[in-house]
Amino acid sequence: MRVAFIAAEAFPLAKVGGLADVVGSLPLALTKLGLEAEIYLPWYQGIEAKHIGDIEYLFAGQPEAGALGEAWHRGVRVVLLGHPDFQRERLYGYPDDVARFMRFSCMAYQAASGAGILHAHDWHAGLVPVLAHAAGGRQKTVFTIHNLAYQGRWNPGEFLAWSGLPAHYLQLEGLEYRGDASLMKGGIVYAHRVTTVSPSYAREILTPEFGEGLEGLLQKHQHKLRGILNGIDTSYWDPSTDPHLPSRYSANDLSGKTACRAALRTETGFNQEGVVLGVVSRLVEQKGMDQVLEILPPLLRLGCKLVVLGSGEPALEDSFRLAGEKYQGQVFFRSGHNEALAHRIYAGADALLIPPAFEPCGLTQMIAMRYGTPPIARAVGGLKDTIRDGVTGVLYSGGQSANLLAAIERFLRLDQQAMRLAGMRENFSWEYPALEYAAVYGELSTSRVGLTEEPNSPGQRE
Ligand code: ADP
Ligand code: GLC
Repeated sequence: MRVAFIAAEAFPLAKVGGLADVVGSLPLALTKLGLEAEIYLPWYQGIEAKHIGDIEYLFAGQPEAGALGEAWHRGVRVVLLGHPDFQRERLYGYPDDVARFMRFSCMAYQAASGAGILHAHDWHAGLVPVLAHAAGGRQKTVFTIHNLAYQGRWNPGEFLAWSGLPAHYLQLEGLEYRGDASLMKGGIVYAHRVTTVSPSYAREILTPEFGEGLEGLLQKHQHKLRGILNGIDTSYWDPSTDPHLPSRYSANDLSGKTACRAALRTETGFNQEGVVLGVVSRLVEQKGMDQVLEILPPLLRLGCKLVVLGSGEPALEDSFRLAGEKYQGQVFFRSGHNEALAHRIYAGADALLIPPAFEPCGLTQMIAMRYGTPPIARAVGGLKDTIRDGVTGVLYSGGQSANLLAAIERFLRLDQQAMRLAGMRENFSWEYPALEYAAVYGELSTSRVGLTEEPNSPGQRE
C-alpha cells in the first residue's frame, strides 16, 4: 500500500517545528513495516531536487502547470511541487498563506492521486480530504492534527473561487466556521480518519479549554478520532553518535555528558557552578515563555542559570535578549534556528524547561530525556503521556509562573542522576506508533467506507 504524506514541512528539507520532524521520520518507520510511503512538499526556495517533469492541476477553475521535483531522504522519496509562491525567504508568515497552501493542496492532490492513502497534515493540507470527497470519496484519506490553534481561515468567496468546490461545502456541517472557511475544519469533517499526536491531546481537544472552538465538531466526529503518540528519530537523536556534540555518551558511560555540560557552560560564558536550565523552543504564546521571564530573579537566586535558543515573536526575543545582557554569566540567549546548538543544549543542560499553555505532543521533552536531560514540564497533552513525574522528569499542574518555579525547586531536591538514567532508558522510537498508523491505514484499505455514500453530502461520513 502506498501512503502519500502531504505536509508543509519535512526535516531536513524544510523545518519550523515538530511537524517537520514527524513528517521527516514517520515515513521511514512505515517503510520498515513494509509499507510504501512518500512525502509531498512545496518546492521552497533553496531546496535542491531533481526536476522530473511538470504537473497540471486546477486552481481557481483554471488549469495551471507547476514543476515536479524529486529528492530522497534516507530511502524515502520526497516529491517537490513547484510554484513561484513558494520561492520566498520563509516558509510561512505571509498574508497570502491560505492561498499558497490551497494551491499546494491542489497540486499535491493531483500529484499523489495514485496513492492508496492520502495522509494530510495540519491546515496546510486540510483541503486534500475535501477534494477527495468532492471527487466521489473513493480515495481513502487520513488527516492529522498537529496543532489545532492554527486553522487556515479565509473568506468564503475566495475560498470557493480558488477551490472550485460547490457552495454547499461551506455549510455549517462543512467548512464554515464563524463566517469563514476553515481548512482545519475541512480536514476534520471530510477525512475518513482523524488522528492527533498524543492520546491526552485527543481527549483535551474535546473540551472548551483546548478545543479552539472546534470541540463540538470534534465530539461529533469522535468515532473517527484517535490519538497516536509521536515518536522521534532515535538514530538521528542519539548522544552516542551525534556529530554535533563535543563528546559522545550513553547510559552506560555518562562521562561524555559531563564534558558536554562543561563545554556548554564555556560556550555560554557561564562558570561551572549551579544548575543550567535549557530552553529550545519556538517563541510564541503557546509555549509559555513569558512565565520563564517572570521567574527569572528567583531562579537566579536559587543558583540556576538559563540558556535559551528560540525564535518567533519579536517582543519575546527582545525580552530574552535584554535578560541576557542584564544577567551576563547567568542568562544566555541565542535567537534563530540553530540545529547544532539545539543538540548541544539537549546534551549539556541539567534540565529542560517546558511550560506551555497546551502541547499537542511536544518532541523536545523526548529528545531531552534521550540525552539524559530531565524535562520540567507542565502536565498537558503529550508531555503528560511521555514524562514520568519524579522518575524521568518533573510534571506540574497549573498555568501560573509560581507553579513552574515550585516545579524547579522540586527538581533541585530530586535525585537528578537517577532521573537522567531513567530518561535515557525510555523508548521513544517510532517502532510502536508506526504500527498504530499502519493499523489505521489497514482499517481503511479493507473497509468500504466512502464507497457507498452520496458524494457532496457534507458531514455524512461513515
Ligand atoms: P513545536 O512543533 O510546537 O515547535 P515540538 O516540541 O513538537 O514543538 O518540536 C520542536 C522541534 O523544533 C524540535 O525538533 C526542536 O529541537 C526544534 N526547535 C525548536 N526551536 C528551535 C531552534 N531555535 N533551533 C533549532 N531547533 C529548534
Ligand atoms: C505541533 C505541536 C507539537 C507537536 C508537533 C509534531 O507543532 O505544537 O506539540 O509535537 O506538532 O506533531
